Amino acid sequence: MCGIVGYIGKQKATPFIIEGLKRLEYRGYDSAGVAVHQDGSIRVAKKTGRVANLDKETARHNFTGTCGIGHTRWATHGGVTDANAHPHVSSDGKIALVHNGVIENYVSIKKFLTGKGYTFASETDSEVICNLIAYHYDKEPETADSSRLLESVRKTLSHVEGTYGMVVTSEGNSEELVTARKGSPLILGIGKDENIVASDVSAIVARTQNVVYLNDNEIAHITPDNFSITTVDQSSITPVIDTVDWSIENAEMGDHAHFMIKEIFEQPEALENAMRGRFSEDGSTAQFGGLNISANEFRGVERFMFCSCGTGLHACMVTEHLIEMFAHVPVECDYASEFRYRNTPLFRNTLFFVMSQSGETIDTLAALREAKRKGYKVLAVNNVVGSTIAREADGGIYQHAGHEVGVASTKAFTSQLLIGAMLALYIGRMRDLSYGAGVDFVNALKGTPELVRTGLKQASHIQAIAKRFAHYEDMLFLGRMSLFPIALEGALKLKEISYIHAEGYPSAEMKHGPIALISEKCPSVFLAPKGELFNKTVSSMQEIKARKGPVIAVITEGTVLPEGLADEIITIPDCHEAVLPIVASIPMQLLSYYIAVERGCDVDKPRNLAKSVTVE
Ligand code: F6R
Repeated sequence: MCGIVGYIGKQKATPFIIEGLKRLEYRGYDSAGVAVHQDGSIRVAKKTGRVANLDKETARHNFTGTCGIGHTRWATHGGVTDANAHPHVSSDGKIALVHNGVIENYVSIKKFLTGKGYTFASETDSEVICNLIAYHYDKEPETADSSRLLESVRKTLSHVEGTYGMVVTSEGNSEELVTARKGSPLILGIGKDENIVASDVSAIVARTQNVVYLNDNEIAHITPDNFSITTVDQSSITPVIDTVDWSIENAEMGDHAHFMIKEIFEQPEALENAMRGRFSEDGSTAQFGGLNISANEFRGVERFMFCSCGTGLHACMVTEHLIEMFAHVPVECDYASEFRYRNTPLFRNTLFFVMSQSGETIDTLAALREAKRKGYKVLAVNNVVGSTIAREADGGIYQHAGHEVGVASTKAFTSQLLIGAMLALYIGRMRDLSYGAGVDFVNALKGTPELVRTGLKQASHIQAIAKRFAHYEDMLFLGRMSLFPIALEGALKLKEISYIHAEGYPSAEMKHGPIALISEKCPSVFLAPKGELFNKTVSSMQEIKARKGPVIAVITEGTVLPEGLADEIITIPDCHEAVLPIVASIPMQLLSYYIAVERGCDVDKPRNLAKSVTVE
């Protein structure tokens, strides 16, 4: 969740680290800090709040050193204070460290170290490992081949239980950094006369597109012009240098007020990218290059299981609906966080999918590992090439939605919906979906970007509705069938960025309890597309109206509602059933975005949240 940047090279480290931390701020933004080698010692600056505060602080110090480490924090152990911010420095002043993850046995290690005279300035588990490295460093013989720091980190890790992505530096030695990973991503950026380590490529691409993804239990030793990787138990690793296929422009906001609105408007392109090269020549089905499972094997699947978290789970729920509708194969969805402990019985011919845009969500990763441990193949729908989930899955489908910075997922979500629809088509065409129905399906999918462009034209209308509804403190989102998960998603989006209490329900469930909430103070957003359930949804709206509940209705263009039933109407273009959830998502995103802006909320960095959740 937190962001890490380390730099070693010929340029000043601090401006690069600060710039990188700004790009990583979406991963955690409670506090930030840097530690830089300066005039033979390690100098530290830390500040609570945003990286901008740290920027001001470091400007005062004018650090010129060319080796340093930095961190932006999402608090786990200990409150948000300057002392708890990273980097931490050991009490003997010899070691500085930044750390992502959670050290489970820090209490016993702290007790041991206290007995050895080490002291602690913070409440964090990270400071404990920093001091443990210092303890081993002190015992390690000084060597000419600079293995002292590396070996003390290695020894420390053999005593540590938990997860970490860490970068460590030692006093008086500005020619090396040591970095190690277990359960928390770290990437090396291989530059010319400089090397970088970061928890996310967005902090690296300003300087180089050549990267090495560290694996769990690996330690890297980095100098300005070299690096080597070994495992914690000393096996050597031959690194593979990958090229990142996006550049710094993807991580910039351009003319937009927020990343979220930029990414909402990038959806047509993201959808096009998700489809590129993925339709059969006869135009009647989908094809995927990286499933690593034969068509025959796929045909033999009798049940699909989808696991994810948050927004990703809503995409899974839509996929469940579409696969069952078009392919008639049973699908089950579960929260990854529940599945990992639930020990659910799975049928023999089950194919397991996880969806994770970041590819780093720890609960989803744990669900993947649990399914693999039980002997199932696991495929991943994922947006980040080289992410942990992508690497641990047996195969999968990359979303190619482009870098998503806004904490509230938008384009990554609709691209998951599209891939879910393509899967339904692929599986359907292996079974009873006819050639003609397949061709119609493909044509509908190909038309999605244009439908989304049409939906985006409603932005100013939705902004006006948002102004009218921004003062409410409760809201309900109601939808049926494939739009029930979109109602859940609408509610999630609104609560996470505007802090309005919102809930999603199937419309017909209202009368089984939630209707008790209805009053003039609780508006309902109805997803009411044309179709066989339209009249029933209209009846549900009448029940709300009869109790003075304000109604925002999202209806298909050309549909007419009874006079006075809705306080506001948003139209969506008429479309194929498989595409409807994507089209209906657009007004949900715009509504929550404009309401949050109207309420003065920090849309891209909502309170308490972080982009990828790498702690349990
Ligand atoms: C909400 C949101 C989260 C994520 C969830 C899983 O807008 O983005 O609910 O969907 O944390 O994240 P990924 O998809 O990265 O595994």
